[in-house]
Amino acid sequence: MLRPLCVIPALLACAAALRAEDGSVAWLRYTALGETAARGYRLAVPAVVVAAGAAAPIDSAQQELIRGIRGMLGRTLRVEAHVPRESAIVIGTLDEIQKAAPQFGLSAKLEPDGFWLKTITEGGVPYIVVTAEDGRGVLYGAFALLRKIALGEAVDRLDERQTPYAPVRWVNQWDNLDGSMERGYGGPSIFWEGGHVRQDLSRVSEYGRLLASLGINGCSINNVNADPQLLDSDFAAQIARIAAAFRPWGVQVAVSVDFGSPKSIGGLDTFDPVDPKVAAWWKAKAEELYRAVPDLGGFVLKADSEGRAGPSTYGRTHADAANVVARALKTHGGLLFYRGFVYDHHMDWRNPKNDRARAAYDNFHPLDGRFDDNVIVQIKNGPIDFQVREPASPVFGALERTNEAAELQITQEYMGQARFLVFLAPMWKETLDFDLGPGTVKALAAGKTFHRPTGGFVGVANVGLDENWTGNHLSQANLYGFGRLAWNPDLSAPRIAEEWTRLTFGGDPKVLETVSVLLLKSWRTYENYTGPLGLQGLTDIVGNHYGVSVEASERNGWGQWHRADQTGVGMDRTMATGTGYIGQYSPAVAKVFESLEDCPDDLVLFMHHVPYTYSLHSGKTVIQSIYDLHYEGEQAAESYIGDWKGIAGRIDDRRYREVLAQLEYQAGQAEVWRDAVSNWFFRESRIPDAKSRVGNHPGRVEAEAMMLEGYTAVDVHPWEAASGGKAVSCPITQCAASTRYNGAPGWYTLRIQYFDQNNGTARYKLRVGDQVVDEWVAAAHVPSAKIDGSTSARRTVGGIALRAGDSIRVEGMPDGGETAAFDYIEILPSEN
Ligand code: GCU
Repeated sequence: MLRPLCVIPALLACAAALRAEDGSVAWLRYTALGETAARGYRLAVPAVVVAAGAAAPIDSAQQELIRGIRGMLGRTLRVEAHVPRESAIVIGTLDEIQKAAPQFGLSAKLEPDGFWLKTITEGGVPYIVVTAEDGRGVLYGAFALLRKIALGEAVDRLDERQTPYAPVRWVNQWDNLDGSMERGYGGPSIFWEGGHVRQDLSRVSEYGRLLASLGINGCSINNVNADPQLLDSDFAAQIARIAAAFRPWGVQVAVSVDFGSPKSIGGLDTFDPVDPKVAAWWKAKAEELYRAVPDLGGFVLKADSEGRAGPSTYGRTHADAANVVARALKTHGGLLFYRGFVYDHHMDWRNPKNDRARAAYDNFHPLDGRFDDNVIVQIKNGPIDFQVREPASPVFGALERTNEAAELQITQEYMGQARFLVFLAPMWKETLDFDLGPGTVKALAAGKTFHRPTGGFVGVANVGLDENWTGNHLSQANLYGFGRLAWNPDLSAPRIAEEWTRLTFGGDPKVLETVSVLLLKSWRTYENYTGPLGLQGLTDIVGNHYGVSVEASERNGWGQWHRADQTGVGMDRTMATGTGYIGQYSPAVAKVFESLEDCPDDLVLFMHHVPYTYSLHSGKTVIQSIYDLHYEGEQAAESYIGDWKGIAGRIDDRRYREVLAQLEYQAGQAEVWRDAVSNWFFRESRIPDAKSRVGNHPGRVEAEAMMLEGYTAVDVHPWEAASGGKAVSCPITQCAASTRYNGAPGWYTLRIQYFDQNNGTARYKLRVGDQVVDEWVAAAHVPSAKIDGSTSARRTVGGIALRAGDSIRVEGMPDGGETAAFDYIEILPSEN
């Protein structure tokens, strides 16, 4: 636990600072500390800052210290050119400080990007020294010093050295040149618009600052599904502008390239990697880019994957492909990140031996040792594709003579996109700490286990122009968590959650407790109501990857199969009877997964096909666990609302309201998921829920059973996305549906489950008797224009007095393609 910062007398000062916040400064808020804390720091923090050397990141470090100290302590540091006789913060590389202040007698062996925070007392005067081998390290040290103050940690007797765990700590942005984003939920691209670089790159430099505060040192700036046009000569100057915006923050720019470029834009008749013309083309292209951006980090390459051009066209290997590009980068010090995400998406689903999970290992293991030293194979955390629960990819343990990086997805593609709270640090920790036999994933990826020259961590970030970067305030915690783990994967998830909460929402103990607990529970909650037991996300995997659609993964070539049928569920990946995937692990790990008795419940359906009646370690059958976990997940999501309400008035109102709306929406969606998945498995297995909840919803009135004026009943696809498989939809300009209340008199909450499509802005009214008790507009932008699991949304109206005979009436006014559809109403007794 961190020491509490916002102690009681300081609370008032904290409360006074509750101005509306838009989230744009993320965790770098530097809000004024409470008076008690500030007083202590004002004594410990000098009034002067001196920078030895003026390289770009050092200047940023100095500006950041001034900004942070001013914000937190209300003092503006005085900038001096030389080390004064009074107390000062002295920043610079070790070399420069040795020259500027030989009297300090500083000497140390520091690693690249690492830093040293050191209090030195010279002639009775204390100095805070922030030093490093290079300018970037100095910048990281400055951020670390400010973070200590913001977290309430002591800075009076410093002697702290930090070395990043791995040299590669990068983010990938999947931005398209037209400004849209692949799997981005935080608004349009900060880099591109209309096919060229944006005029105003101020957000790029702000992003660079956020990244630097975490120690992230590289960023690729375009979609891995790369537009070949980016390598057109007129883009070099545009990339240079982005690099210039990042450079003060020590963030190197990289670009994603398309392997077919020598042919598609280079005018050659081939892109065969062993053809000397092709090698020469890549070399010339790299030279051109390095002329414009001398510190370019390198390229990212997705080849032979999901329809991308690749070496298979010419019968060549991934090593041939990687090396021809890597050799062009080599003389410039560039790296080639070659994606390990290679699989056949036209697999025959009828063949029980086929298995997408095997693909990366089968492709890359035979090539171990054949990649050049500046190639890094970038491997997704699990063998499928960023699902809510996957085992660690066996590829990490299978490449002894190849550099690796672990690819983690910060953008929440399969994790509720920007609409749900899912804090991913606990999931990443499980993977990074997993021991594959030769070593843990983190040690393997960082290159420590097999003593590789480089390696590390890459996060798919996809921040956008939204004020809060990530589409909602809480998802910022994932960017923060990735950065902290990339720097030090030994940090615990609770530590990261608490740090982030304190920096983002302040130190009120109730806020700290509430928000960190919510963060830490959220992955399990989401897993429970979407795809527990290793089922993976039961979402529309061939479409938007968002709403529920249990069978979308089946009977197609994409290979995300769960193979549920009337008798059982799960993919048999055993060596004995299944696809043999488990054999890709080291013997000790394989032994655990292969044995049904030893395989953890969390992954049992990922590894095995079992009957619904199979009894898990929990003592419950598979089918009852599916039901129970979905109910638990939904209830947990519902409880977040009350938890969040408990901190009303303790954080600024704007972020409070925005997060509350998000959590209310999530609770509604959790109910949709719960019912859909439970109903689907009930229909398939015909085994009832021992607790009689599935298919049994007291207080629910199906829309299609109400008295309809204009509304017509429609079948919903997939059927499980709507209660009873049906909804009502309004084909004219206005419709209504009503029912009579027959229960006991009292106070009730009404819930209307309606469909908020993205192709219109329908309006709804709710009447009890003649009185309009609520009206709302369906204006959300969920990724679907259909009546389905993605668009299903919930409107809750509390405190309604009902007595027998009252009419409850929903009126819908369609707009555009949106037909004011709804699924059911629910009449629930109000709590008090
Ligand atoms: C996922 C994602 C794609 C992306 C791909 C990749 O499949 O849905 O949009 O291109 O991963 O990582 O390359």
